[in-house]
Amino acid sequence: MDVVLIGLPGSGKSVVGRRLAGRHAASFIDLDERIESAAGRTIPEIFEDGGEAGFRALERAAIADLGPADPASEVRRVIATGGGAVVDPRNRWALYRGRTTVWLDGRPEVLAQRLRRSPHVRPLVAGRDPIGAIRDLGARRERFYAAATIHQVGVAEVHGVVDAVDERIAATSTTAGAAGTTLLRASTPIGRIALGDGIAGDALATALDALRGSRAILVSEPGAWAAVGERLAADLAGRGREVAQVLLPEGEAAKRLDVVEGAARELAALRVERSDVLVAVGGGALGDSAGFLAAIYLRGIRFIQVPTTLVAQIDSAIGGKTGVDLPEGKNLVGAFHQPAAIIIDIGALRTLPGRQMRAALGEAVKMAALGDERLFELLESDGPAIARGDSAAFDAGIVAELVERAGWAKVEIVAADERERETAGGRITLNLGHSLGHAFEAAGGYGGLLHGEAVAYGLRAASRIGVEVGVTPPERAERIGRLLDALGLATDPLPYPLATVLEHLAADKKHAAGRLRWVLPTADGVVVRDDIDPALVERAATGLLAATSRTAR
Ligand SMILES: NC(=O)c1ccc[n+]([C@@H]2O[C@H](COP(=O)([O-])OP(=O)(O)OC[C@H]3O[C@@H](n4cnc5c(N)ncnc54)[C@H](O)[C@@H]3O)[C@@H](O)[C@H]2O)c1
Repeated sequence: MDVVLIGLPGSGKSVVGRRLAGRHAASFIDLDERIESAAGRTIPEIFEDGGEAGFRALERAAIADLGPADPASEVRRVIATGGGAVVDPRNRWALYRGRTTVWLDGRPEVLAQRLRRSPHVRPLVAGRDPIGAIRDLGARRERFYAAATIHQVGVAEVHGVVDAVDERIAATSTTAGAAGTTLLRASTPIGRIALGDGIAGDALATALDALRGSRAILVSEPGAWAAVGERLAADLAGRGREVAQVLLPEGEAAKRLDVVEGAARELAALRVERSDVLVAVGGGALGDSAGFLAAIYLRGIRFIQVPTTLVAQIDSAIGGKTGVDLPEGKNLVGAFHQPAAIIIDIGALRTLPGRQMRAALGEAVKMAALGDERLFELLESDGPAIARGDSAAFDAGIVAELVERAGWAKVEIVAADERERETAGGRITLNLGHSLGHAFEAAGGYGGLLHGEAVAYGLRAASRIGVEVGVTPPERAERIGRLLDALGLATDPLPYPLATVLEHLAADKKHAAGRLRWVLPTADGVVVRDDIDPALVERAATGLLAATSRTAR
């Protein structure tokens, strides 16, 4: 077994790690020492020469050098990491899988005091206000540390910490890696979030325990049930939990009022009470409908989202928008109802059909265009492999990084503007590519394009409009276009009549009190404009339609 110690500078990773290794006659690896000896320089010197980026590159290489986790049940290696090593999702993927991770936690005052006495200079906390710097680092990194198998809140004496950690390792040793790999755990204003690979069973049981729910009512649909739900139900039952299930129809057919009524009646027949917890297992359509059911049954019961598609993991399960469609339009009836927890298990995506995976990347490109440069680069380098559903993209942690970056970006936007009240920024920016995207989707009767595919067309249109009004630099528009080309998104002209597309766009316009607010790309983010000339919109839409359908009705 490998034990990995993580935590802020000054939390005692090296000293605790060395002693722990000594007790087990295991080898001790201090990653910072390895980096220094490989570079032939001290860490402050590495920072001076190459900045933080130079140091992080060496750190990544040192982590890769560790090789695979030791499968033995006894402790063979103890690895102390630098405090920031876990910020990079790919480092966490390499470090956490199959290993027992221990978060050494402590109060910032105590850590700062230790650092003052330490002979090692920590460049990131070496300023005038070390306590403030540590507190700040702690807030930004908590979700990465909190993913650890063991959370050890520090006591002052080293041997006491070592004893406590040792006991807890012994208690978990048989399960190291068996419960999957948790990569991120966060407590946010829009619900608790756990993200990892193969974690659904364990994370769901933990979330249900935290809610002290009497019963888990799994709501799913045939596709997600076969891929994920059935196993999850058996897992919960195996843990002695009372489970019931309600199946809705697959796909958009779940998002109908009569379906919700039928499901509510099933809940009534099951005598579901407020103390029960509804668990939505499925993609965006299932999650929207089941979330709405949770929002209105008994005037609202608690629910947990277990998203099983890429769209749901990076978008729809996050943010509390629930609802159903009407014949007059999509998502016209609904409610804001935040899930108590969101359990994102990327393992579920391994069975997702290729078209669904590729389409969801339309939303991921949107998140990147909102201003996440690293996500942009990730999609440029590895997006085509993800779109093809390459298993190597899973195995290398690429899918995990994509889901984390795109999903977390949404968490931050929604947490800051839960009810979409901001007019110039906040949640409305998530509508980038959606005005015309929705219109194209509706023009196809919702049977033509998948949502993410439609968003990709919408992104091309928004870029063009942005260039014409002078807010989108042409290079930015070209970069977005090139990425969509590489992903195979929005590459063919659409067969819809222009008039139909514009009609659907007008419906959107009424919705926004007469003036449609356009979210347009800038050099590194977006702006919101409500003064876009309709003729320009028409030109942008026309450019995406097949020649034969531009005038036809
Ligand atoms: N609430 C929001 O904020 C929000 C945001 C974006 C999209 N949405 C909504 O999401 C819906 C689209 O979501 P979606 O693309 O996830 O569609 P979906 O829920 O219809 O799922 C797509 C298909 O994948 C199958 N499936 C699900 N999980 C699977 C798995 N693990 N393996 C194999 N197959 C699996 C389903 O059976 C279905 O056939 C739309 O209704 C859209 O309006 C909502």
